[in-house]
Amino acid sequence: MRCRKCKDRAVLGIPRHHTAFCKPCLSDFVCAQAERAVTEEKMFTKTDRVLVAVSGGKDSLSLLDILRRLGYQADAFYVDLGIGEYSRQSKARVEHFTGARGIPLHVHELKEDEGAGINELADLVHRPTCSVCGTLKRYHFNRTAVELGYHVLATGHNLDDEASRLLGNVLHWQTEYLDKQGPTLPASMEGFAKKVKPLFRLAEREIAAYAIVNKIDYIVEECPNSKGAKMLLYKDILNRLESESPGTKQAFYWGFLAKQEAEAKTRPSMTENDQAVLHPCITCGQPTTAETCSYCKLMARAKQTGPAATPS
Ligand code: FES
Ligand code: ZN
Repeated sequence: MRCRKCKDRAVLGIPRHHTAFCKPCLSDFVCAQAERAVTEEKMFTKTDRVLVAVSGGKDSLSLLDILRRLGYQADAFYVDLGIGEYSRQSKARVEHFTGARGIPLHVHELKEDEGAGINELADLVHRPTCSVCGTLKRYHFNRTAVELGYHVLATGHNLDDEASRLLGNVLHWQTEYLDKQGPTLPASMEGFAKKVKPLFRLAEREIAAYAIVNKIDYIVEECPNSKGAKMLLYKDILNRLESESPGTKQAFYWGFLAKQEAEAKTRPSMTENDQAVLHPCITCGQPTTAETCSYCKLMARAKQTGPAATPS
Protein backbone atom coordinates (compact mmCIF):
# COMPACT_ATOMS: atom_id res chain seq x y z
CA MET A 1 0.00 0.00 0.00
CA ARG A 2 1.46 3.34 -1.11
CA CYS A 3 0.74 6.87 0.10
CA ARG A 4 -1.58 8.61 -2.32
CA LYS A 5 0.27 11.90 -1.99
CA CYS A 6 3.97 11.05 -2.02
CA LYS A 7 3.96 7.33 -3.02
CA ASP A 8 6.01 6.44 0.06
CA ARG A 9 5.03 3.39 2.16
CA ALA A 10 1.55 4.00 3.61
CA VAL A 11 0.86 3.39 7.32
CA LEU A 12 -2.92 3.76 7.19
CA GLY A 13 -5.56 3.02 4.59
CA ILE A 14 -8.70 5.17 4.70
CA PRO A 15 -11.29 3.24 2.68
CA ARG A 16 -14.03 5.86 3.12
CA HIS A 17 -11.83 8.31 1.15
CA HIS A 18 -10.38 5.57 -1.14
CA THR A 19 -6.94 6.61 0.04
CA ALA A 20 -3.88 5.75 2.12
CA PHE A 21 -1.17 7.87 3.71
CA CYS A 22 2.43 7.59 4.92
CA LYS A 23 3.33 9.01 8.35
CA PRO A 24 3.90 12.69 7.44
CA CYS A 25 1.00 12.80 4.97
CA LEU A 26 -1.32 11.20 7.55
CA SER A 27 -0.48 14.01 10.00
CA ASP A 28 -1.09 16.57 7.26
CA PHE A 29 -4.45 14.95 6.44
CA VAL A 30 -5.57 14.92 10.11
CA CYS A 31 -4.51 18.54 10.66
CA ALA A 32 -6.21 19.64 7.42
CA GLN A 33 -9.48 17.95 8.44
CA ALA A 34 -9.39 19.63 11.87
CA GLU A 35 -8.55 23.00 10.30
CA ARG A 36 -11.42 22.58 7.86
CA ALA A 37 -13.82 21.82 10.73
CA VAL A 38 -12.65 24.88 12.67
CA THR A 39 -12.96 27.29 9.75
CA GLU A 40 -16.06 25.91 7.99
CA GLU A 41 -18.02 25.65 11.23
CA LYS A 42 -16.68 29.05 12.41
CA MET A 43 -15.52 27.49 15.69
CA PHE A 44 -12.78 30.01 16.58
CA THR A 45 -9.95 32.04 15.12
CA LYS A 46 -6.24 32.42 15.85
CA THR A 47 -6.97 35.35 18.18
CA ASP A 48 -9.42 33.36 20.37
CA ARG A 49 -8.28 31.61 23.56
CA VAL A 50 -9.36 27.96 23.41
CA LEU A 51 -9.66 25.67 26.43
CA VAL A 52 -9.30 22.00 25.48
CA ALA A 53 -10.88 19.49 27.87
CA VAL A 54 -8.31 16.70 28.14
CA SER A 55 -8.75 13.24 29.63
CA GLY A 56 -5.32 11.75 28.92
CA GLY A 57 -6.80 9.72 26.05
CA LYS A 58 -5.75 9.82 22.38
CA ASP A 59 -8.52 12.11 21.12
CA SER A 60 -8.16 15.01 23.53
CA LEU A 61 -4.35 14.96 23.60
CA SER A 62 -4.23 14.74 19.80
CA LEU A 63 -6.68 17.64 19.57
CA LEU A 64 -4.44 19.78 21.76
CA ASP A 65 -1.41 18.77 19.69
CA ILE A 66 -3.19 19.52 16.38
CA LEU A 67 -4.54 22.92 17.48
CA ARG A 68 -1.12 24.00 18.76
CA ARG A 69 0.50 22.78 15.56
CA LEU A 70 -2.01 24.81 13.55
CA GLY A 71 -1.10 27.93 15.53
CA TYR A 72 -4.18 28.22 17.75
CA GLN A 73 -3.99 29.46 21.35
CA ALA A 74 -5.04 26.20 23.00
CA ASP A 75 -4.60 25.47 26.72
CA ALA A 76 -5.65 22.36 28.67
CA PHE A 77 -8.22 21.58 31.34
CA TYR A 78 -8.35 18.28 33.21
CA VAL A 79 -10.99 17.07 35.67
CA ASP A 80 -9.57 14.56 38.13
CA LEU A 81 -12.52 12.23 38.77
CA GLY A 82 -10.72 10.36 41.54
CA ILE A 83 -11.07 6.89 39.95
CA GLY A 84 -8.07 5.21 41.62
CA GLU A 85 -5.28 4.00 39.35
CA TYR A 86 -7.12 5.03 36.16
CA SER A 87 -7.25 8.68 37.22
CA ARG A 88 -3.64 8.60 38.44
CA GLN A 89 -2.46 7.23 35.08
CA SER A 90 -4.52 9.58 32.96
CA LYS A 91 -3.51 12.65 34.97
CA ALA A 92 0.16 11.65 34.69
CA ARG A 93 -0.23 11.48 30.86
CA VAL A 94 -1.85 14.92 30.78
CA GLU A 95 0.81 16.48 33.01
CA HIS A 96 3.61 14.90 31.00
CA PHE A 97 2.13 16.00 27.66
CA THR A 98 1.47 19.61 28.68
CA GLY A 99 4.66 19.92 30.78
CA ALA A 100 6.89 18.77 27.91
CA ARG A 101 5.33 21.34 25.55
CA GLY A 102 4.92 24.23 28.00
CA ILE A 103 1.12 24.23 27.58
CA PRO A 104 -0.81 25.85 30.47
CA LEU A 105 -2.84 23.21 32.32
CA HIS A 106 -5.79 23.84 34.65
CA VAL A 107 -6.91 21.00 36.93
CA HIS A 108 -10.12 20.48 38.88
CA GLU A 109 -9.91 17.86 41.65
CA LEU A 110 -13.25 16.29 42.52
CA LYS A 111 -11.97 14.84 45.79
CA GLU A 112 -10.77 18.26 46.93
CA ASP A 113 -13.59 20.44 45.67
CA GLU A 114 -16.62 18.16 45.84
CA GLY A 115 -15.25 16.16 48.77
CA ALA A 116 -15.55 12.78 47.00
CA GLY A 117 -14.57 10.96 43.81
CA ILE A 118 -17.06 10.24 41.03
CA ASN A 119 -17.93 6.71 42.20
CA GLU A 120 -18.68 7.84 45.77
CA LEU A 121 -20.76 10.77 44.51
CA ALA A 122 -22.78 8.52 42.21
CA ASP A 123 -23.44 6.14 45.14
CA LEU A 124 -24.57 9.03 47.33
CA VAL A 125 -27.11 10.31 44.82
CA HIS A 126 -28.15 6.84 43.57
CA ARG A 127 -27.56 7.67 39.93
CA PRO A 128 -25.49 5.90 37.25
CA THR A 129 -21.84 6.98 37.46
CA CYS A 130 -21.61 8.06 33.83
CA SER A 131 -24.63 10.32 34.11
CA VAL A 132 -23.24 12.00 37.26
CA CYS A 133 -19.89 12.28 35.49
CA GLY A 134 -21.56 13.99 32.52
CA THR A 135 -23.28 16.53 34.76
CA LEU A 136 -20.08 17.33 36.67
CA LYS A 137 -17.89 17.58 33.60
CA ARG A 138 -20.30 19.78 31.67
CA TYR A 139 -20.54 22.06 34.68
CA HIS A 140 -16.82 22.40 35.29
CA PHE A 141 -15.94 22.66 31.60
CA ASN A 142 -18.30 25.60 31.21
CA ARG A 143 -17.53 27.28 34.50
CA THR A 144 -13.77 27.05 34.11
CA ALA A 145 -13.84 28.30 30.51
CA VAL A 146 -16.01 31.30 31.45
CA GLU A 147 -14.24 32.17 34.71
CA LEU A 148 -10.77 31.97 33.16
CA GLY A 149 -11.77 34.09 30.17
CA TYR A 150 -11.58 31.49 27.39
CA HIS A 151 -13.67 32.18 24.31
CA VAL A 152 -14.32 28.53 23.47
CA LEU A 153 -14.33 25.10 25.10
CA ALA A 154 -13.14 22.32 22.77
CA THR A 155 -13.58 18.58 23.27
CA GLY A 156 -11.99 15.65 21.44
CA HIS A 157 -15.23 14.03 20.22
CA ASN A 158 -14.60 12.31 16.89
CA LEU A 159 -16.81 10.99 14.06
CA ASP A 160 -17.30 7.64 15.84
CA ASP A 161 -18.42 9.36 19.06
CA GLU A 162 -20.88 11.58 17.23
CA ALA A 163 -22.27 8.88 14.95
CA SER A 164 -22.80 6.46 17.86
CA ARG A 165 -24.45 9.17 19.95
CA LEU A 166 -26.72 9.98 17.03
CA LEU A 167 -27.57 6.30 16.62
CA GLY A 168 -28.47 6.08 20.33
CA ASN A 169 -30.65 9.19 20.14
CA VAL A 170 -32.41 7.98 16.99
CA LEU A 171 -32.97 4.45 18.32
CA HIS A 172 -34.73 5.90 21.35
CA TRP A 173 -36.26 8.82 19.44
CA GLN A 174 -34.67 11.28 21.84
CA THR A 175 -35.36 14.10 19.43
CA GLU A 176 -34.87 16.72 22.15
CA TYR A 177 -31.14 15.89 22.15
CA LEU A 178 -30.71 16.14 18.39
CA ASP A 179 -30.45 19.94 18.44
CA LYS A 180 -27.33 19.68 20.57
CA GLN A 181 -25.62 17.14 18.30
CA GLY A 182 -23.87 19.65 16.08
CA PRO A 183 -20.09 20.23 16.15
CA THR A 184 -20.63 23.81 17.37
CA LEU A 185 -22.89 24.81 20.23
CA PRO A 186 -23.00 28.60 20.42
CA ALA A 187 -22.58 30.66 23.58
CA SER A 188 -26.30 31.35 23.86
CA MET A 189 -26.07 33.70 26.84
CA GLU A 190 -23.55 35.32 29.13
CA GLY A 191 -21.94 32.71 31.38
CA PHE A 192 -22.28 30.01 28.74
CA ALA A 193 -19.11 29.15 26.81
CA LYS A 194 -19.22 28.20 23.15
CA LYS A 195 -18.58 24.43 22.79
CA VAL A 196 -16.87 22.93 19.76
CA LYS A 197 -15.74 19.51 18.47
CA PRO A 198 -12.95 20.10 15.92
CA LEU A 199 -12.35 16.36 15.35
CA PHE A 200 -15.87 15.54 14.13
CA ARG A 201 -14.61 14.96 10.57
CA LEU A 202 -12.11 12.30 11.71
CA ALA A 203 -12.68 8.64 12.59
CA GLU A 204 -11.32 7.20 15.82
CA ARG A 205 -8.76 5.00 14.05
CA GLU A 206 -7.41 8.00 12.12
CA ILE A 207 -6.84 9.90 15.36
CA ALA A 208 -5.32 6.83 17.03
CA ALA A 209 -2.91 6.55 14.07
CA TYR A 210 -2.08 10.27 14.38
CA ALA A 211 -1.32 9.83 18.09
CA ILE A 212 0.95 6.86 17.44
CA VAL A 213 2.76 8.44 14.49
CA ASN A 214 3.37 11.59 16.55
CA LYS A 215 4.48 9.59 19.62
CA ILE A 216 1.77 10.98 21.87
CA ASP A 217 1.84 9.04 25.13
CA TYR A 218 -1.85 8.53 25.93
CA ILE A 219 -3.81 6.25 28.26
CA VAL A 220 -5.06 3.29 26.23
CA GLU A 221 -7.50 1.89 28.82
CA GLU A 222 -11.07 3.11 28.72
CA CYS A 223 -12.57 4.46 31.94
CA PRO A 224 -13.44 1.41 34.11
CA ASN A 225 -16.97 2.79 34.48
CA SER A 226 -17.57 2.57 30.72
CA LYS A 227 -17.61 -1.25 30.70
CA GLY A 228 -20.87 -2.45 29.17
CA ALA A 229 -21.87 1.09 28.15
CA LYS A 230 -24.42 1.30 25.33
CA MET A 231 -22.19 3.72 23.41
CA LEU A 232 -19.55 1.00 23.03
CA LEU A 233 -22.18 -1.32 21.58
CA TYR A 234 -23.33 1.36 19.11
CA LYS A 235 -19.72 2.01 18.11
CA ASP A 236 -19.18 -1.68 17.53
CA ILE A 237 -22.29 -1.94 15.35
CA LEU A 238 -21.27 1.11 13.32
CA ASN A 239 -17.76 -0.32 12.89
CA ARG A 240 -19.24 -3.52 11.49
CA LEU A 241 -21.34 -1.51 9.05
CA GLU A 242 -18.31 0.58 8.16
CA SER A 243 -16.13 -2.42 7.34
CA GLU A 244 -18.82 -3.83 5.02
CA SER A 245 -19.66 -0.47 3.54
CA PRO A 246 -16.94 2.21 4.00
CA GLY A 247 -18.33 5.70 4.47
CA THR A 248 -21.44 4.63 6.42
CA LYS A 249 -20.55 6.53 9.59
CA GLN A 250 -19.70 9.66 7.69
CA ALA A 251 -22.86 9.48 5.57
CA PHE A 252 -24.97 8.93 8.71
CA TYR A 253 -23.59 11.79 10.78
CA TRP A 254 -22.74 14.29 8.07
CA GLY A 255 -26.09 13.61 6.41
CA PHE A 256 -27.78 14.42 9.70
CA LEU A 257 -25.81 17.68 9.98
CA ALA A 258 -26.77 18.67 6.44
CA LYS A 259 -30.47 18.09 7.18
CA GLN A 260 -30.15 19.97 10.47
CA GLU A 261 -28.57 22.93 8.68
CA ALA A 262 -31.30 22.99 6.03
CA GLU A 263 -34.00 22.87 8.72
CA ALA A 264 -32.36 25.60 10.79
CA LYS A 265 -32.95 28.02 7.92
CA THR A 266 -36.70 27.55 8.23
CA ARG A 267 -37.14 27.78 12.01
CA PRO A 268 -35.78 29.88 14.93
CA SER A 269 -32.16 29.10 15.71
CA MET A 270 -31.14 27.08 18.75
CA THR A 271 -29.56 30.22 20.19
CA GLU A 272 -32.88 32.06 20.15
CA ASN A 273 -34.69 29.08 21.66
CA ASP A 274 -32.12 28.64 24.40
CA GLN A 275 -32.06 32.33 25.25
CA ALA A 276 -35.75 32.13 25.98
CA VAL A 277 -35.35 29.45 28.64
CA LEU A 278 -31.81 29.80 30.07
CA HIS A 279 -31.20 31.94 33.14
CA PRO A 280 -28.67 31.97 36.01
CA CYS A 281 -28.91 29.22 38.67
CA ILE A 282 -30.04 30.78 41.97
CA THR A 283 -27.27 28.94 43.84
CA CYS A 284 -24.19 29.24 41.64
CA GLY A 285 -25.11 31.63 38.83
CA GLN A 286 -24.35 29.17 36.02
CA PRO A 287 -26.86 29.07 33.13
CA THR A 288 -29.73 26.63 33.57
CA THR A 289 -33.25 26.02 32.35
CA ALA A 290 -34.54 25.35 35.92
CA GLU A 291 -34.34 27.49 39.04
CA THR A 292 -31.36 25.49 40.31
CA CYS A 293 -28.84 23.90 37.91
CA SER A 294 -28.42 20.14 37.78
CA TYR A 295 -24.95 20.37 39.36
CA CYS A 296 -26.24 22.26 42.40
CA LYS A 297 -29.19 19.85 42.71
CA LEU A 298 -26.82 16.90 42.56
CA MET A 299 -24.44 18.34 45.15
CA ALA A 300 -27.31 19.27 47.47
CA ARG A 301 -28.56 15.69 47.28
CA ALA A 302 -25.08 14.30 47.94
CA LYS A 303 -24.73 16.56 50.97
CA GLN A 304 -28.07 15.37 52.34
CA THR A 305 -27.28 11.69 51.94
CA GLY A 306 -23.67 11.51 53.03
CA PRO A 307 -21.06 13.28 55.08
CA ALA A 308 -18.35 12.83 52.49
CA ALA A 309 -19.53 15.45 50.06
CA THR A 310 -18.89 19.07 50.88
CA PRO A 311 -19.77 21.10 47.79
CA SER A 312 -17.69 24.21 47.23
FE1 FES B 1 -16.97 9.61 33.37
FE2 FES B 1 -15.69 7.38 33.39
S1 FES B 1 -17.30 7.92 34.66
S2 FES B 1 -15.28 9.10 32.20
ZN1 ZN C 1 -25.96 25.95 40.17
